[in-house]
Amino acid sequence: METVQGHLYDYPKYYDLIFGSDWKAEFDFLEDVFEKHTQRVIERLFEPACGTGRLLIKFAQAGYQVAGNDLNPKAIEYCNARLERHGFAPSAVVGDMTEFTVRKKFDAAFNTINSFRHIGTEQGAVGHLKCIADALYKGGLYVLGLHLTPTVGPPIQSESWSAQKGALCVNSHMWSIELDLKKRNEHLGMTFDIYTPKKQFRLEDRMDYRTYTAKQFAALLKKVPELETVEVYDFSYNIDEPIEIGPTSEDVVFILRKR
Ligand SMILES: C[S@@+](CC[C@H](N)C(=O)[O-])C[C@H]1O[C@@H](n2cnc3c(N)ncnc32)[C@H](O)[C@@H]1O
Repeated sequence: METVQGHLYDYPKYYDLIFGSDWKAEFDFLEDVFEKHTQRVIERLFEPACGTGRLLIKFAQAGYQVAGNDLNPKAIEYCNARLERHGFAPSAVVGDMTEFTVRKKFDAAFNTINSFRHIGTEQGAVGHLKCIADALYKGGLYVLGLHLTPTVGPPIQSESWSAQKGALCVNSHMWSIELDLKKRNEHLGMTFDIYTPKKQFRLEDRMDYRTYTAKQFAALLKKVPELETVEVYDFSYNIDEPIEIGPTSEDVVFILRKR
């Protein structure tokens, strides 16, 4: 099989197939959070680092007004084309989640699968949370999901999954190459084996994530007092089962509310 070095984010169609199939659990959980954790009626939603907008399209179809930003122009083009195809405004823009403003505020924002960890510096992370706080109405929510680095017990080392739609099939594998806790960086390797009726190839990707222990994340949140933590869940997305963060915690979803 031919191997191509590249970034999955530059292949929105394949990205969307791999990550898009899991939308329902996140969608339902987000709606549960909107109902449980704010008095606001949630109508306007913003997704920083929205990528292909796999969740934005579902929320648009459910009647919400949606918008997002992402650094990757190919993802934004894909996202907007799909929104337009379904009769919605092309409301995603190319932009940096560490430095953005919005014209009209939102009731809630969400960022569910580690995209936040693409921000490589503390300054960028603070900038991001401040931008989100500015973009939200008072009482508005920010749902932020990420993997923390556990300080007790081994972290997850690798993950594999596959997805199929019609004649397109993608098998993915992701593994941790290096975890440098001093530099606060996790270097990851990924392969995507892509099968279409016309071609088959392997996409080899590398990616860096900033690391956060529970303590480091708590210290970060302290720098943005505009957002209060109202609850924490994990990636099982069960609204009836909030969690207490401890040294073994890994997949966490923070529910932050604009003061
Ligand atoms: C794992 S994808 C998530 C996309 C989408 N949120 C989802 O749930 O499918 C991460 C996305 O973060 C984007 N990204 C990385 N750094 C960014 C930044 N500083 N500002 C905006 N987007 C960024 C990438 O281009 C990519 O589309």
